[in-house]
Amino acid sequence: MGARRLKLGFMMHGNGTGWGDWRHPAAHPGASTDFGYYRRQAQVAEAAKFDFLFVADSVHITPKSSPHYLNRFEPLTILSALAAVTDRIGLVGTLTVSYAEPYNVARQFASLDHISGGRAGWNVVTSWLEGSARNFSRDKHYDHATRYRLAAEHLDVVQGLWDSWEDDALVHDKASGRFFDPEKLHRLDHRGPFFQVEGPLNIARSPQGQPVIFQAGASEDGRNFAAARSDAIFVQDDDLLSARAYYADVKRRAAGFGRNPADLFVLPGLRPVIGSTEEEAERKYRDFIALTSIEDALLIMARSFNEHDFSQYDLDAPFPEVERFAQNSNRSTSGRVIRLAREGNLTLRETAQRFATPRTDFVGTPEQVADAFERWFLEPAADGFVYNNSLPDELSVFAETVIPILQDRGLFRREYEGTTFRDSLGLAKPVNRHTSRRIAAE
Ligand SMILES: Cc1cc2nc3c(=O)[nH]c(=O)nc-3n(C[C@H](O)[C@H](O)[C@H](O)COP(=O)(O)O)c2cc1C
Repeated sequence: MGARRLKLGFMMHGNGTGWGDWRHPAAHPGASTDFGYYRRQAQVAEAAKFDFLFVADSVHITPKSSPHYLNRFEPLTILSALAAVTDRIGLVGTLTVSYAEPYNVARQFASLDHISGGRAGWNVVTSWLEGSARNFSRDKHYDHATRYRLAAEHLDVVQGLWDSWEDDALVHDKASGRFFDPEKLHRLDHRGPFFQVEGPLNIARSPQGQPVIFQAGASEDGRNFAAARSDAIFVQDDDLLSARAYYADVKRRAAGFGRNPADLFVLPGLRPVIGSTEEEAERKYRDFIALTSIEDALLIMARSFNEHDFSQYDLDAPFPEVERFAQNSNRSTSGRVIRLAREGNLTLRETAQRFATPRTDFVGTPEQVADAFERWFLEPAADGFVYNNSLPDELSVFAETVIPILQDRGLFRREYEGTTFRDSLGLAKPVNRHTSRRIAAE
């Protein structure tokens, strides 16, 4: 086995994660629906040997949603277009199990895996915005526990459908007129509490066999689901100590589910700010946070409390009692906000500012940012990172200054290991379940 290496993803967030990012002098406000922008960024990331591109998603907006959420591409559509203009980089997209039929999801990711020559990854989310229900002809969003039960069954169905065809089922024998071997085509016949799906899927097994699975749940149910079922976990954490605790916890859970913990990658998302000197990095960081007004900071925070209206509270009073608004929403992020407020005895204003514009370890010169990556990686608090910065030129700065340092230290690849996303991650292609059964019976 080779040395442990960092995994790197690039979060393609068009014009930014914040509310004010698009107002930065270097920002491209129309980026979120500009294919040329996505293509250029994807190619820069691939030339830098990133493991994957990530396109996040949600399915409900209000006029208070952030600019990128208001106007963005559907993930599978943009990833299919990017598949055609890249060769090696993984293509990971979010699709919610709460509002998508597993048959369609299986087809879409199998198609992306074929189109891209084996580079598809699915970020399995359950969605935490209650308003999503109203876009899908439902009155009510599923509750938190139900969502994770549904997610497990949904994933069972999708992965079952991906094995509909054994790898060598399509024989294409022109002489005999035999297009496929019927012994190697399998119905699923799934009947569960949420889904009844007969199958088989109408597309052959894809190059990776099973596209790579990502997850990001951090509540109790979320951690168990991610540890049991995913190949990689996204984390939102900018504090090394809590990231280390989370890392140890999900690896322990993975081992408890009978898995090799090394096959599960824990990937915090972060936004490095790089300057040629410390002063320049600090200035860039300050320019960036100046774009986030207190009103924006309240909205950023509100997102994990089901878009609760924080403007009704006194900004300079202690952080209000709002836990109940997060129960059916994003429990991990809202929990982090509440802990931050309680532990630091903070007012609402202070909590929102610290949460929305954290001062992380990843602000500094290229050496300092590389040091922070290395520290988190060796701790270990991470197996890699999801880099996120929407200013168009910052990705190139990162690629040209930080990545070479990580390569020189032996922490990051210089060349892709193979052709598929699984090759990059060092994950074997799973044997089709029906083929395994046949081999076992022989
Ligand atoms: C880096 C990262 C990316 C995420 N991307 C999405 C996404 O694209 N769509 C979505 O609905 N949720 C996304 N989530 C949220 C998770 O899917 C999940 O809802 C959240 O972590 C709360 O889960 P919990 O209630 O189990 O704590 C993301 C989370 C993280 C940390």
